[in-house]
Amino acid sequence: MLEASIAELEEEIRRCKRCKLSRFRTNAVPGKGSLKPKVFFIGEAPGRSEDEQGEPFVGAAGRVLTELLNSIGLSREVVYITNVVKCRPPGNREPTEAEIEACAPYLRRQLLLLRPKLIATLGRIAWKWVCSEFGLSFTSLSRVHGKVFEVSTEYGSAKIVPLYHPAVAIYNPNRLPMLKDDMAKLKELL
Ligand code: URA
Ligand code: SF4
Repeated sequence: MLEASIAELEEEIRRCKRCKLSRFRTNAVPGKGSLKPKVFFIGEAPGRSEDEQGEPFVGAAGRVLTELLNSIGLSREVVYITNVVKCRPPGNREPTEAEIEACAPYLRRQLLLLRPKLIATLGRIAWKWVCSEFGLSFTSLSRVHGKVFEVSTEYGSAKIVPLYHPAVAIYNPNRLPMLKDDMAKLKELL
């Protein structure tokens, strides 16, 4: 059963020692949300609050993400939220290629279990990952944010929408309208 498979995968992630990030974490952050998600969000990696609580996007960036979701009439409960890398990189540095590769099998299994038709990436690292995973050519977010890309996956076709990371609005609230515009494009696809 799906629920059991997801629970088992989460347990595996919480015990994982496949890469060095396991040594620094308080909690791994597998992901959270609906098992029939309207949108499957992929962020970069847990930050401090996420590491403390074991849940994705529960800090400042998470508050922005919740606001953006609410702006298109969605709640966190109807989407699924996870990250490319499930453990917090020390000092919030970017995850390395080796860490991304070590962790990727978990994200692949999450996608195969939940089979989302609509995937939204948050930030450059997640966009880059889906590009290499689904054969898209990687271009800067400034060019592609809010655009729709059709890909074929092992479970059928899916749409991918690259978005800026919600953290960009933490110190630059003037960028919130742009993030909301991009979210509105996502709503058109629902
Ligand atoms: N930033 C991310 O990319 N992911 C989180 O879960 C929190 C902050
Ligand atoms: Fe395992 Fe991923 Fe955590 Fe590395 S980041 S220890 S691969 S769960």
